[in-house]
Amino acid sequence: MSLLNKKFPRLLPDPIKKNVRVADLIDNAFKAYNGGRLAEGCRLFVEKMLADNGTIGMSLTGALTPAGLGKSAIVPLIKAGFIDWIISTGANLYHDLHYGLGMHLFAGSPFLDDVQLRGEGIIRIYDILFDYDVLLDTDAFVRKVIQGPEFQRTMGTDEFHNLLGRYVYEREKALGIKETSLLSAAYQYGVPVFTSSPGDSSIGMNVAAMSLRDSKLQFDCNRDVNQTAAIVYDAKSSGHTSSVFLLGGGSPKNFMLQTEPQIQEVMGIEERGHDYFFQCTDARPDTGGLSGATPSEAVSWGKVDPESLPDCVVCYTDSTIALPLITAYALTKAPLRTPKRLFDKRDEQYETIRAMYFKSGKVGKIQHRTNLDKTAKKKPAKAAKKPTKASKKPAKASKPARKK
Ligand SMILES: NC(=O)c1ccc[n+]([C@@H]2O[C@H](COP(=O)([O-])OP(=O)(O)OC[C@H]3O[C@@H](n4cnc5c(N)ncnc54)[C@H](O)[C@@H]3O)[C@@H](O)[C@H]2O)c1
Repeated sequence: MSLLNKKFPRLLPDPIKKNVRVADLIDNAFKAYNGGRLAEGCRLFVEKMLADNGTIGMSLTGALTPAGLGKSAIVPLIKAGFIDWIISTGANLYHDLHYGLGMHLFAGSPFLDDVQLRGEGIIRIYDILFDYDVLLDTDAFVRKVIQGPEFQRTMGTDEFHNLLGRYVYEREKALGIKETSLLSAAYQYGVPVFTSSPGDSSIGMNVAAMSLRDSKLQFDCNRDVNQTAAIVYDAKSSGHTSSVFLLGGGSPKNFMLQTEPQIQEVMGIEERGHDYFFQCTDARPDTGGLSGATPSEAVSWGKVDPESLPDCVVCYTDSTIALPLITAYALTKAPLRTPKRLFDKRDEQYETIRAMYFKSGKVGKIQHRTNLDKTAKKKPAKAAKKPTKASKKPAKASKPARKK
């Protein structure tokens, strides 16, 4: 038997039949190139990332929610318990609000006269069209909501989006619509939603304008950095996998991946990297930008566990093609999971990583210690107890525990 026969499955797809199921089509006919990567990614998602109650973080960039993908794909994934936490551009969360508030967006064309559209008060996102009032009404909703007393303080963006999501949920109920909005679903299912650039969207723009009035709302990006690391640390230290499902690249991709260097390089806590990596992107690796950086490159930073590298998948495709297919595949092939409701555990997770940091971290240079010994992975690190007042003083707890 030749090496080919021994190591590789023969390429012999069945003819596609009428009324074929999406999952069967992917398994049977997506065999090579980016079709092959999409099929591999679907199987990775179902067979490894979702297995054994692994924790899955999703990052969102590109104009996905304006295209209706919040309602068609992300809400069903949240409801199925397949997405545990999210990092999104503010734009995706802002445009999600239009759907939650029952506003109308239209399937148009990319070949329209933009000067004429401007004259008629119509906004275009490639081939999506909507009235300028959609923006003005959404802006007004954000400004009105954040006047509430619960918003008059500094908070992480996960808490902000949870509070905002509750208002969207209430609005959906009042309008008699449901399952329209990512933010509403995330609120209902306790999925923390972060944004890596809170000022870089219309939500941030409205928050900024209100700070010129009397609003006390500020975003605590330090809390976001530590909280996202705490989510990953909680998964890994309890013996679960941590997976990243990246749609596009940009700042949310890095914000999700940097959780591991935050744990290892900055906090001095021993860790190995995310277990599984699945990215759909149009960004190339050869420009050196993070958007197109491969999982292999991420291994060198400690972002991804080298042991799982053979399982990592990058599919060079448009997320608007990939996400509906991945969603259909996962809903068909994987059993529903009980939502983890990580938002409800945010303070507990935060205190745990803080305690570990005071045990392992220091102000001066941290000793480099890469321990890729397989046996080390099998022993989940014991979380330290809640820090006492004394242990909160960094100077006294600065000595890192060195491993031989
Ligand atoms: N009104 C608003 O609030 C508003 C509107 C648009 C953008 N913005 C802001 O601008 C920033 C960047 O926005 P962005 O994410 O839309 O654009 P972007 O073009 O910067 O895309 C980000 C990354 O995702 C990839 N990508 C984009 N679309 C993709 C697709 N369909 N399939 C696969 N990969 C894709 C790109 O290659 C890139 O790596 C964000 O911070 C956003 O909040 C704000």
